[in-house]
Amino acid sequence: MTRRYRMARPEEHRALMVQDAQAFGDSTTSVSIDRSVARTRVEELRVLEEDGNRLGLLLARGQPVRWGGRPVPASQVSGLSVGAEHRGRGVATELLRAYLGEVHERGAAISTLFPAAVQLYRRAGYEYAGTLTLYEAAARHLPVGWPDGWRALPVPADDPAPLQERFARVAAGRSGQVDREADWWRQFLLADRGSGPPQVFLVDGPDGPDGWAILAVSSDVSASEVRTSVQVVDWGAASEAGWRSLLTLAAGFSSLEASVHWKGPDPEPLALLVAEQDIRQLRQDRWMARVVDVPGAFAARGYPSGLRGRITIGVSDDTCPWVDGTWTIEVDGGEGKAVRVGDDAEVTTTAAGLAALFAGYHDPRDLATLGVVRGLDQAGVDFLRAMHAGPKPWSPDYY
Ligand SMILES: CC(C)(COP(=O)(O)OP(=O)(O)OC[C@H]1O[C@@H](n2cnc3c(N)ncnc32)[C@H](O)[C@@H]1OP(=O)(O)O)[C@@H](O)C(=O)NCCC(=O)NCCS
Repeated sequence: MTRRYRMARPEEHRALMVQDAQAFGDSTTSVSIDRSVARTRVEELRVLEEDGNRLGLLLARGQPVRWGGRPVPASQVSGLSVGAEHRGRGVATELLRAYLGEVHERGAAISTLFPAAVQLYRRAGYEYAGTLTLYEAAARHLPVGWPDGWRALPVPADDPAPLQERFARVAAGRSGQVDREADWWRQFLLADRGSGPPQVFLVDGPDGPDGWAILAVSSDVSASEVRTSVQVVDWGAASEAGWRSLLTLAAGFSSLEASVHWKGPDPEPLALLVAEQDIRQLRQDRWMARVVDVPGAFAARGYPSGLRGRITIGVSDDTCPWVDGTWTIEVDGGEGKAVRVGDDAEVTTTAAGLAALFAGYHDPRDLATLGVVRGLDQAGVDFLRAMHAGPKPWSPDYY
């Protein structure tokens, strides 16, 4: 029996969305499936079939991801599912292998995903690369007061352009942030999730545009109480006054005893603006990355401008043979490059270890202690730490 990896066909779009919903235990009502069909382009779906039977499907998106202040060509695995009757026979592993070959051909330097089965991805060369952290605070604990000359302007939830403009300034320096195209805003952030469109605000100061907020406010009424929740779908600001305005906007729901939920980095800098220990971490998910193209990945990302150094690493990778081998990674003047070299290296790792070294989420000393990277000396640890100076990679986007 032969297995074949291919793009999905338009006529199977709906059936694939049903298959995916079944695999994850999501609703398969026609309204839910309509929504998944609308959120997913058929060109993003890949199928592994065997003698005409679909065994599994993979949903791939293609947004660059920022690292060290620069966009890195990337692909996101936004869904992977295997029919219940076909599980445990290597289908997911084979889908991933074929997908990595395909996106490498298409020019992706890294691939990122939110894992439901970590071991599956780790074996395919992915490792933890950053976080998505959900925070909560009671609206009444947030500081109140519009800074002089600042205001929030409500706008319709159908135009990503002013949001994109503000986001570009705020998010440029983040590591792990998807560079969102207009469709990403529409599908993931501005979409109506069944209870009407979210409320969108632009925050402007005396010097012009600064921040934005996308809020979904809901109430849950039970016999004993009404719980109001302000879900911050997305927000950001460039300045202190911009952030104070956003907190004031959220605090405006305090008469409803509302709790405010948002996604942020860890540690959350907003704690600096809140008087007490009132911000709670509700949940943290780790997401993963893989290096798909070694020279491409290390050349695309940014580095601290004063850093100068190099390290030679032997990488074993049986999923992507083009990654396997010994590489010298050199950084100088904010630019990095990776070149294949012939010699054996003292520092050795797997594809997953290389992903960890690229990402900078785990400390290099811990990677050495726990055997993810072998042969790393103090100079190597110092160089890798310096390469990742700054906030740890994080993503407010779940995909
Ligand atoms: C997870 C899933 C895609 C695996 O598909 P599969 O074809 O059975 O996987 P493979 O046969 O290629 O297994 C490869 C490895 O994945 C891991 N794995 C497989 N199923 C797993 C599960 N349910 N939970 C945790 N790990 C799992 C195992 O380490 C396995 O290796 P092993 O069999 O040597 O132990 C499939 O069970 C599925 O569709 N689940 C529901 C949807 C889902 O969770 N998708 C993951 C999205 S991030």
